[in-house]
Amino acid sequence: MEQVEVKKGYFGEYGGQFVPGPLLDYLNAVDAAYNELKEKPEFKARMKSLLSDYAGRPSPLYFAEKMSEKLGYKIYFKREDLNHTGAHKINNTLGQALLAKYMGMKEVVAETGAGQHGVATATAAALVGLKCTIYMGEIDAEKQKMNVYRMKLLGADVHVVKSGDRVLKDAIDEALMYLVGHPGTFYLLGSAVGPHPYPTMVRDFQKIIGEEAKKQIMEKEGRLPDCLVACVGGGSNALGLFYDFIKDEGVRLVAVEPAGKGLDTGLHAATLTLGTPGVIHGFRCYLIQDENGNPGKIHSIASGLDYPGVSPEFSNLKDIKRLEVATISDEEALDAFDMVSREEGIIPALETAHAIAYLIKEKDSFGKDDVVILNFSGRGDKDVETVFNIRGRQA
Ligand SMILES: Cc1ncc(COP(=O)(O)O)c(C=O)c1O
Repeated sequence: MEQVEVKKGYFGEYGGQFVPGPLLDYLNAVDAAYNELKEKPEFKARMKSLLSDYAGRPSPLYFAEKMSEKLGYKIYFKREDLNHTGAHKINNTLGQALLAKYMGMKEVVAETGAGQHGVATATAAALVGLKCTIYMGEIDAEKQKMNVYRMKLLGADVHVVKSGDRVLKDAIDEALMYLVGHPGTFYLLGSAVGPHPYPTMVRDFQKIIGEEAKKQIMEKEGRLPDCLVACVGGGSNALGLFYDFIKDEGVRLVAVEPAGKGLDTGLHAATLTLGTPGVIHGFRCYLIQDENGNPGKIHSIASGLDYPGVSPEFSNLKDIKRLEVATISDEEALDAFDMVSREEGIIPALETAHAIAYLIKEKDSFGKDDVVILNFSGRGDKDVETVFNIRGRQA
């Protein structure tokens, strides 16, 4: 289909709406409804009460004393793993599910990689009374069998995608096709990616993470942190933590990407580090792409980081040098997974383990009074089987 570019929803040269006509009408309707709804006092009150009484916010800011002692500087975890459904994803799915209802939609469709967004979508759909259809790549569905079953328990139809590389990007392709063929369906997107208004809307629903963290660190330390660290798949948990601090120039913002089996192996998903500007799924961003502009091959042990594109807002923050980007390999993430489990008694999601590995790898670059907040984006229950299959069998 021919792509139409509209100058709307840009971050520098990134973002936009590169979509065929019928999808543009849908996006404009979502944009208009979102702008209307977000100002309504009833919506603000409903979100506030769901985030506190249903999702469990505010999530704690936990001082990780043993990790701090071991690594030699002050480390705080923003505990998004303690939210209902075990990750930051619920902040966004509740907001979009209410928007779908407001628009009079009967159904939501979503993609999922690690299964966390699929579970959070099925949860929000059950709560507000919407039919729910989830697409998931076959490789991810195999790794995350229990999350597939959880989604089914919550009443969702789960479609396993066997085309392409059978991962997240292929699930998005199929979910978009479903959207086009099913009027009355709302696309409930799981990260700060996609055509406008999704990157802005998802960021808005996730920025509560940083707003809370700022208040909490002021109470605990009486000052702003020196550095924020988060893993990046599409960018929603990282942007959620960073957004309220972008204007605080003394606070370093570090985005951690998956180096997979190594940056020189071609098996990674280090989009901001090695990608070049291009278009995927209707928006412009840093992209791992082949010589024809098609999404290139990618890999990460963490299904939720396995995406060849990235948030357009992060693409721009990188260009204007407000964002630092680091990479962590599968092996380094697995070592961090072990360390934080043993030291703190918290099993992290493999996605989160990438951000933790950065804290370990870069420990010598921090001084003993430095304060670092790590976004603990999700809990590791979903990954225990994967780690067992790689390391547990050797133990
Ligand atoms: C626990 C967890 N952390 C991080 C991510 C990465 O997504 P994002 O970059 O949108 O936060 C995912 C995605 O599935 C996830 O499940």
